[in-house]
Amino acid sequence: MSFNRISAAEAASLIKHGYNIGLSGFTPAGTAKAVTAELAKIAEAEHAKGNPFQVGIFTGASTGESCDGVLTRAKAIRYRAPYTTNKDFRMAVNNGEIAYNDIHLSQMAQELRYGFMGQVDVAIIEACEVTDDGKIYLTAAGGIAPTVCRLAKHIIVELNAAHSKAAMGLHDVYEPLDPPYRREIPIYQPSDRIGTPYIQVDPKKIVGVVETNWPDEARAFSAADPVTDQIGRNVADFLVSDMKRGIIPSTFLPLQSGVGNIANAVLGALGHSTAIPAFNIYTEVIQNAVIGLIRDGRVKFASGCSLTVTNDCLNEVYNDMKFFGDKLVLRPSEISNSPEIVRRLGIISINTAIEADIYGNVNSTHIGGTKMMNGIGGSGDFTRNAYISIFTCPSVTKEGRISAIVPMVSHHDHSEHDVNIIVTEQGVADLRGKSPKERAQAIIENCVHPDYKNILWDYLKLTDGKAQTPHAIRAALGMHAELAKSGDMRNTDWAQYA
Ligand code: COA
Repeated sequence: MSFNRISAAEAASLIKHGYNIGLSGFTPAGTAKAVTAELAKIAEAEHAKGNPFQVGIFTGASTGESCDGVLTRAKAIRYRAPYTTNKDFRMAVNNGEIAYNDIHLSQMAQELRYGFMGQVDVAIIEACEVTDDGKIYLTAAGGIAPTVCRLAKHIIVELNAAHSKAAMGLHDVYEPLDPPYRREIPIYQPSDRIGTPYIQVDPKKIVGVVETNWPDEARAFSAADPVTDQIGRNVADFLVSDMKRGIIPSTFLPLQSGVGNIANAVLGALGHSTAIPAFNIYTEVIQNAVIGLIRDGRVKFASGCSLTVTNDCLNEVYNDMKFFGDKLVLRPSEISNSPEIVRRLGIISINTAIEADIYGNVNSTHIGGTKMMNGIGGSGDFTRNAYISIFTCPSVTKEGRISAIVPMVSHHDHSEHDVNIIVTEQGVADLRGKSPKERAQAIIENCVHPDYKNILWDYLKLTDGKAQTPHAIRAALGMHAELAKSGDMRNTDWAQYA
């Protein structure tokens, strides 16, 4: 291979204050690690000398500790888009230190192409192989890598030996044209491949190849608990009943499920359900549970943007591509999350809410209406376009002091027009075909924790009950106000608003 082999520190030194860097990866899977870790050191050294040093970061989704974590602590991030889960980053954003642009993941690549966020100066791309003629083979994620490679002036490749070259067969790289030339994305089945297994770049743009051996930083999720298990069973029972009613075809429909424990519990319950045939997955993040279900024959095919799995699970896939090769594909995020494809395939989407209101509006991003949690991720890409959109959450959190169902959401990500079903461990509210007032009855009756049922019924009594969407506007955030005052929404007293 004829490219310049450089150290991670040399590569990082090519990045200047004020640059925008575009990264491969989606979640900690497939993201740049070695160069960003060195960049943090440069930022710290420059700051110690009294010099400014900050960059803009464009990624597919969250990254790992050696990117968002170290760069945040080094105060090296001026701007970042989109989704992230890093605790230090969250704190810095909520302290007003970083400009965070939380956009739908499907839109990230195209907004870069449209020029909404400025130019991409350098792309840092993790690869399992790069060829002399400029073919870059990605590792465990698609993300926005094809787009940042094309837009960036310079490309640094992190050639990571921790990823087997078996990953070369996983990807289907495809970038749509921009309007007015865009055509349909020709995916008609989750397993359709429409692109190439590599990104083709101009080899002259590759300014250096950094050899690393740095495993992905994805974590295992904590063990399921009775609440998440119950939510999983409620979702599975609901889907079985919709299938028996003929609403879902007997062949079933492709599934998208969010990230985390609830998603794992839902997948586990669906996987074990004898009433549901083996199904396909068209999602953004493929977790451990999906790999297990493929092994068991319960999932026929999984299309995703990343393999966000533990490293032993990742190696299981790499070591058995004979088995997994025709059952898995990784795509760029604008394809894995494409609203067009979600609508066409009839995807059943399952995502987690922070809170929902009695009319079916959902907050996925903000705690108490102001503090960023993670971001909207792909939840909006899927929810608005799904065949059936489902939101799950435990009915209460913080030992019962917070109800997930409130009169009015304190921040609004998914509107009543997009949300079909809400599921808590208490039960299922089917909002389809219902007016707002009918939805409120269904949600309070079926999803609210017993400690909060009367509080919410009493809230409705404060309204005139006649409007299309009855609210007592002064009291609508009264449960949040009570939480801020006493630390417990159960103390809400509506008398003050009467
Ligand atoms: N008010 C205050 N805090 C709340 C809350 C509420 N209404 N609801 C949840 N929280 C807190 C929890 O107590 C917990 O706090 P802790 O970290 O101190 O324990 C934290 O928020 C996370 O909640 P948890 O129940 O552990 O949920 P999770 O890890 O499943 O994450 C989301 C839930 C909503 C934050 C997460 O799914 C997310 O970021 N979603 C948006 C993006 C998305 O949907 N991606 C998937 C698309 S494919």
